[in-house]
Amino acid sequence: MEDRLRPNWFDREAGALRIVDQTLLPGEVQYRELKTAEEVWTAIRILQVRGAPAIGVAAAYGACLGAREKNPQSPQELEKVLGETCAYLKTSRPTAVNLAWALSRMEKCLAACPHEWDVSARLDALLQEADSILQEDEEQNLCIARHGLSLLQPGMGLLTHCNAGELATSRWGTALGPILLGQQEGYGFHVYADETRPLLQGGRLTAFELCRAGVDVTLQCDNMAASLMAAGKVQAVLVGCDRVARNGDTANKIGTLSLAILARHYGIPFYVLGPTSTVDLSCESGKDIPIEERPGEEITSLWYRQPMAPQGVKTYNPAFDVTPAPLISAIITEKGVAQAPFTDSLTAMVQG
Ligand code: MRU
Repeated sequence: MEDRLRPNWFDREAGALRIVDQTLLPGEVQYRELKTAEEVWTAIRILQVRGAPAIGVAAAYGACLGAREKNPQSPQELEKVLGETCAYLKTSRPTAVNLAWALSRMEKCLAACPHEWDVSARLDALLQEADSILQEDEEQNLCIARHGLSLLQPGMGLLTHCNAGELATSRWGTALGPILLGQQEGYGFHVYADETRPLLQGGRLTAFELCRAGVDVTLQCDNMAASLMAAGKVQAVLVGCDRVARNGDTANKIGTLSLAILARHYGIPFYVLGPTSTVDLSCESGKDIPIEERPGEEITSLWYRQPMAPQGVKTYNPAFDVTPAPLISAIITEKGVAQAPFTDSLTAMVQG
């Protein structure tokens, strides 16, 4: 088995995006080959590839695949096809802004191609742009890891939610970056991973990644966080983010908000980690962030041998919630540690 699981990479020989199918982890490590924009759309929608930065990278390669598929004959036709493909890919999931951000970069890249370039040169430029998005994500995550680690001390108990690790990004992860870096540097953290109902990204992915990296990790159900904090086992909470509004309100996996409230009650620092591509200055506050709702079947039966709820019961299954900025101790990006007032610190980071 390969040492490091890569959620996305482009295989030029096969002309395909390769992903590790995250719906099969931890039981099975299976790579899939995606050759069309539609296949990429579906893989994002059904969470075969997931996590905000990773779906941005997948969508960028999906845009390349969609543009090639239609075999455009002129730069004008290519522009039209790319625009349609990007609009289509944007509909795969609504909350993580990295998706729309990456697609808009692809459109800008095409618009910036020199006038004399033919279709083939433009398609190459698009593929290189997708490669750059992936490469930058790796580099930025290492910076996030370093900034995050500067806030932590050896031996701390750290709580995390969902999966903001390597599988959710191109390398290092965001919330898991300081943990993985700390592991290499002998920090001896003890990590508590929330199972993360209903899709169990904490159990299936975070615990899996951390065990593989040799990190001391304990898995618990989401409703056990308060008891861990009350017992004094958690010295900091580290979570990722799907979209951060201008004022610092942060959308992340459902259940993040309750952790932030608990952390405030117990006086535990609550850190959000993510690249500046996750900050959406066009959203004034969390009220402007679209929240994905997913099928109720994920709650009632998906992971069970038999249904665990009466047939036809109404369900409520938002995939994300919004943590208000006042509950967040700091937002850590590749550019540094942003503190309140976030409108000023985040705007400076994104524009600086
Ligand atoms: O529904 P998912 O699994 O895509 O949700 C992922 C999260 O909420 C992550 O915390 C977030 O995308 C940050 S990933 C570095």
